[in-house]
Amino acid sequence: MSGINALIDELRSAHASASQGGGEKFRARHAKRGKLFVRDRIEFILDPETAFLELSPLAAHGLYGDEVPGAGIVTGIGMIHGRPCMIIANDATTKGGSFFAETVRKHSRAQEIAEQHSLPCIYLVDCGGAFLPEQDRVFADKDHFGGGFWRQCRMSAAGIPQISVVFGGCTAGGAYIPALSDQVIMVKGTGRIHLGGPPIVKAAINEIVDGETLGGAEMHTSISGVSDHIAENEETALQKLREIIANLGDGRRIASPARTSCAPLAAHGETQDYAPVDLKRPANMHALIRTIVDGSEFSEFKPDYGKTLITGFGHIHGYPVGILANDGALFSESSVKGAHFIELCDQRHIPLIFLQNITGFMVGTEAERGGIAKHSAKLVYAVSNARVPKYTILVGGSYGAGNYGMCGRGFRPRFLFSWPNARIATMSPDVASTVVTDLRRSSLKSSATEEDIAALDATTRAQFEEQSDPYYATARLWDDGIIEPNQTRDVLGLCIALAAGEDQDTGARPVYRM
Ligand code: COA
Repeated sequence: MSGINALIDELRSAHASASQGGGEKFRARHAKRGKLFVRDRIEFILDPETAFLELSPLAAHGLYGDEVPGAGIVTGIGMIHGRPCMIIANDATTKGGSFFAETVRKHSRAQEIAEQHSLPCIYLVDCGGAFLPEQDRVFADKDHFGGGFWRQCRMSAAGIPQISVVFGGCTAGGAYIPALSDQVIMVKGTGRIHLGGPPIVKAAINEIVDGETLGGAEMHTSISGVSDHIAENEETALQKLREIIANLGDGRRIASPARTSCAPLAAHGETQDYAPVDLKRPANMHALIRTIVDGSEFSEFKPDYGKTLITGFGHIHGYPVGILANDGALFSESSVKGAHFIELCDQRHIPLIFLQNITGFMVGTEAERGGIAKHSAKLVYAVSNARVPKYTILVGGSYGAGNYGMCGRGFRPRFLFSWPNARIATMSPDVASTVVTDLRRSSLKSSATEEDIAALDATTRAQFEEQSDPYYATARLWDDGIIEPNQTRDVLGLCIALAAGEDQDTGARPVYRM
């Protein structure tokens, strides 16, 4: 097997292995304690036969000796009583559900999405707080653990429900997640909340106390009032959670699409048929788009101008979209065409989809004399200021400033997913090794021999190969997950639906024909 099929197989097996959490030994102990696994808890609360859009399932992939699959937390969007909710659930089989740097980022990213889309947050808490050996990467800074609590308070105040169910020993930061929630359910016997657990209490004030007395469900539900409900077991707790969601009152509902969704025409093949696995060869981006849009209908904008950027209108699951897709390097013409198109969509309240397969903006004397710096900046400017929701898929390469012009993570797309054949870096390994070895040759400090240069070439190539790999990127939360190409249409449909019906900014939206 080769090409995209092999990459999809590899992705499936990475997902399967991450879904096993901390491995057999810890799973067996977890089950012996009568606790459900994190994904079973999630399945229990979701409406039957509905989709769960899991986010960043491969966070922390390859980090910490691969002992923290998924960064020890499962996040994603699912339906409860017909209402989309953000679920943020610790996996206690990985290091007691404690927080590593990637756990904090994943938790915060889920909250960010929830806040943007007014999704109630459901915290399934089973969490030992900060992973202490990593405390300098998780505790003190703005975007560390405290940032998550800040968001939780702000969302609650904004009327976005924050509900917790406590399943295990929740200490310190783990205790604040339920303590800051609007409503809390605790499971009898296993659920515990304490700012300091028994070892901390002993160290701080020399009091010897067991966990249940200190922070058990009965004490918190009947004496401290930290918890609102006690449940006999996990199933009853999860049932109670569904009941709470059913009684949340009227929330923002997803607006139905203007048109009925219709599948792309089978004659156009499957999306994965067009995945650019060899980034040195041109991809058939027109064909790729036709496998994603309703009825394979794509109304192209300015097809004869700036052809290295394809722009046009279509629908996905009935929702109108404006699509920008790379078909070669970005030149001045394609950049200004992109800016013009973005402004049109912004004016018409049409969400934007960016399909990135980009080596970068054109370089060289001719391009510079033609003003590529200012023209590419126009695209970046338009992307930055578009008020409509933006969605980005890395279908191939995402290199250099092309990443910016095509709405990379820094440009706040609502969601960003990668394909398993994607690559993301400042530049390709070939270009990077040339740049770095040239710099070394011309360095004033350098007395490098040709052998030194050859060694530098090899290490630079290896570094760029490793760091541009989509698994490297997703492990560090540079995206919201790697998806299979054939899932793209449905994933996009779900993401677009979440924003449909939002109040629109009706202020003036100029369109410059650049
Ligand atoms: N920091 C570092 N390691 C932690 C941790 C934390 N906050 N919480 C758990 N771990 C580690 C354990 O050392 C153990 O590691 P090992 O398998 O490499 O030995 C692993 O996670 C599993 O922990 P264990 O205690 O065996 O699991 P448990 O299910 O019986 O208990 C907790 C889970 C969370 C209740 C318990 O581990 C605990 O109380 N942790 C410390 C909580 C704390 O004091 N946090 C303060 C953070 S500021």
